[in-house]
Amino acid sequence: MIIIVDFGSQTTHLISRRIRELGVEVEILNPEEALIKARNADGIIFSGGPASVYAKDAPTVDKKIFNLGIPILGICYGQQLMCQLLGGEVKPGFKKEYGPAIVRVQGTGYRVQLLENIPKQFNVWMSHGDEVVKIPQGFKTYGTTQTIPHAVIADEKRKIYGIQFHPEVIHTEFGEQILSNFLKICGIKINKQEIDKKFVENIISDIKDSIGNEKAICALSGGVDSSVAALLVHKAIGKNLTSIYVDSGLMREGETKSLQEVFQNHYKMNVFIIDAKQEFLKALKGITDPEQKRKIIGRVFVEVFEKKAKEAGAKFLIQGTIYPDVIESAGSKLSQKIKSHHNVGGLPENMKLVLVEPLRNFYKDEVRKIGKILELPDEIILRQPFPGPGLAVRIIGEVTNENLKILRKADSIVQEELKDVDLWQAFAVFTGIKTTGVRGDERVYGETIAIRAIEAKDAMSANFAHLPYELLEKISTRIVNEVPEVNRVVYDITTKPPATMEWE
Ligand code: XMP
Repeated sequence: MIIIVDFGSQTTHLISRRIRELGVEVEILNPEEALIKARNADGIIFSGGPASVYAKDAPTVDKKIFNLGIPILGICYGQQLMCQLLGGEVKPGFKKEYGPAIVRVQGTGYRVQLLENIPKQFNVWMSHGDEVVKIPQGFKTYGTTQTIPHAVIADEKRKIYGIQFHPEVIHTEFGEQILSNFLKICGIKINKQEIDKKFVENIISDIKDSIGNEKAICALSGGVDSSVAALLVHKAIGKNLTSIYVDSGLMREGETKSLQEVFQNHYKMNVFIIDAKQEFLKALKGITDPEQKRKIIGRVFVEVFEKKAKEAGAKFLIQGTIYPDVIESAGSKLSQKIKSHHNVGGLPENMKLVLVEPLRNFYKDEVRKIGKILELPDEIILRQPFPGPGLAVRIIGEVTNENLKILRKADSIVQEELKDVDLWQAFAVFTGIKTTGVRGDERVYGETIAIRAIEAKDAMSANFAHLPYELLEKISTRIVNEVPEVNRVVYDITTKPPATMEWE
């Protein structure tokens, strides 16, 4: 158990959350009750606070707390207070410091347990007016910043540590590492894997409670969200979950096969792969308008899905909605009555399914973390976003089997060549433009493929990736050599806005 002595910092609660996330019990105490109640703790943390240690009513603790032999970590005001009480000196800083700073580890600082597994230089978050100018006897300085001489101090013998920055805020790099190092100093064993496992087990048991012995269905697309959601539910209710994958024929190269491999063969999930290629192609025949394409695809999807869903006799529908998808809609309960939703194109009300969204409280990186804990392969966890209507919105003009084949081949080359480049998305577009070329002294009139490679932090704005010419040249050469129908490749160099990421 860790005790946090609260000196009024805005982030005291955040410290407790971080400690709890590391699987350790924690209690927040007022300074007056600290000495009495801390006796049975494994470690004590002094929080930050808005006061100056020399102010008239500045909060303080009984000095005897340092004699308990329990490791202490002082953060910001907590560090200043411990220095003042132990004979050091604190003064108003040359200027107040709020925001980022860089800590440089001094001399043998890397050997100090608090800084274990931390690089010699790391970014931190500061928020203080005063600073320690003289450290107490027995202490050494192990880290400084450009403005602060004593950013990390320690009396290793007595296991008393002080840091001027805030390890609990996410802007501090290695903050979690510093806190877990402190817990280790306190003799607490942290088993991160065990904690992660428990976290996922709790999600699975919540799903079990929601669904009980009823049946559920889900639309599996192979994207990271629906994959993680389906796998969680499978772990909760096993064969009572029917996953439906509609192969629209608008998927990328090898996608259906890899999905089969992972979910049917490896996880032994109850997955129905419905071959609906002909239905989709037939419905899209002669259609060139992007919005019409989307509507038709949504409609056919629902028809195909609904048929199979009825056979499954399910009461619940699982959906991989994540927090950013629901940010604007109220409500936080796991289950709610079905409403239209974009992933499955808006299922009709009369299906009367109860919606279960196990990921609705999580961000994308957390979903990926859950996927990793569930041992989903990287090819799924790190998959780029792919639009619901698939390659249909990457073919300008009519979607035909021929065009799809050409696009799929060109796209697989783009994927192969850019697999190690960190991008939001990269893909090929079938532009529908024919141009003149020459191949082996003969005139050809062939297709034009565009390459779109995007750097973005969210779906709202983006820039094209500044890929090296050599790489673009290699992709272009491979496409015109390996896809005989194509004799020209262009690179899309527009930002979003005004262009969207997808061409349609
Ligand atoms: P745009 O083209 O609007 O794309 O700049 C932004 C992001 O959304 C993806 N996208 C879709 N995703 N259904 C989806 O599930 C769709 O109809 C759809 N259209 C675009 C796109 O790939 C990009 O990541």
